[in-house]
Amino acid sequence: ARTAAVIPAAGRGVRLGPGAPKALRMLGGTPMLIHAVRAMAASRAVSLVVVVAPPDGVAEVKGLLGEYPLPERAEVLVVAGGATRQESVRLGLEALPETVSTVLVHDAARPLVPVDTVDAVIEAVRDGAPAVVPALPLADTVKEVEPADADGGPEPVLGTPERARLRAVQTPQGFDRDTLMRAHETVAVDGEGATDDAGMVEKLGAPVVVVPGHEEAFKVTRPLDLLLAEAVLARRRA
Ligand code: C5P
Repeated sequence: ARTAAVIPAAGRGVRLGPGAPKALRMLGGTPMLIHAVRAMAASRAVSLVVVVAPPDGVAEVKGLLGEYPLPERAEVLVVAGGATRQESVRLGLEALPETVSTVLVHDAARPLVPVDTVDAVIEAVRDGAPAVVPALPLADTVKEVEPADADGGPEPVLGTPERARLRAVQTPQGFDRDTLMRAHETVAVDGEGATDDAGMVEKLGAPVVVVPGHEEAFKVTRPLDLLLAEAVLARRRA
């Protein structure tokens, strides 16, 4: 009954601005991807980390992992990713050995998730939930709109969901391995593909539960997030 973590890290990260692929950006002198890998390996339950690299970046990622070794009990594999996050996750799942029964899927773009959050997700899966997502209440009120065309004009508001019932979901999301594999084999998602693995499990009709997320599990998406991540690291080191 092994637990493995799949880290999709094949995105280009265009919203961060120009430069290296997002996962290879430095944070506190260490690449973001390495922080994410260490965050998974920090859990004593995790014995395998599968990194899904940009299709043309497998050698580079392998080199990087060689420079920043993991604790001895955790093994790391690198596989080539695909055109969408969903495809990258599927390719990562295909690399898992049979002995893995619990799978975490964790964005490389969430490098600072604390180990207690990782452990809470694993524990909820081991307690019987087929899919577990860490999530936080929202600070902002959310509106549903009719999205404007590329011109960026005013967008008509369609509604305001009750904020108290909404959660912003993070990763690692945890799954019973067979449930997640079945979701990836059978659930079709239009457009960019699924941005959320738990959403695919919902479409199967299997139960998905939320456990408390953590502020430091935020996604590094925009330039401001890099500043915040540097500040969190500096505080941890103080
Ligand atoms: O772009 P976004 O921040 O939503 O990406 C979430 C995660 O999915 C990132 O870790 C990114 O590297 C990964 N991804 C991927 N393959 C893609 C696109 C995104 O592994 N084709």
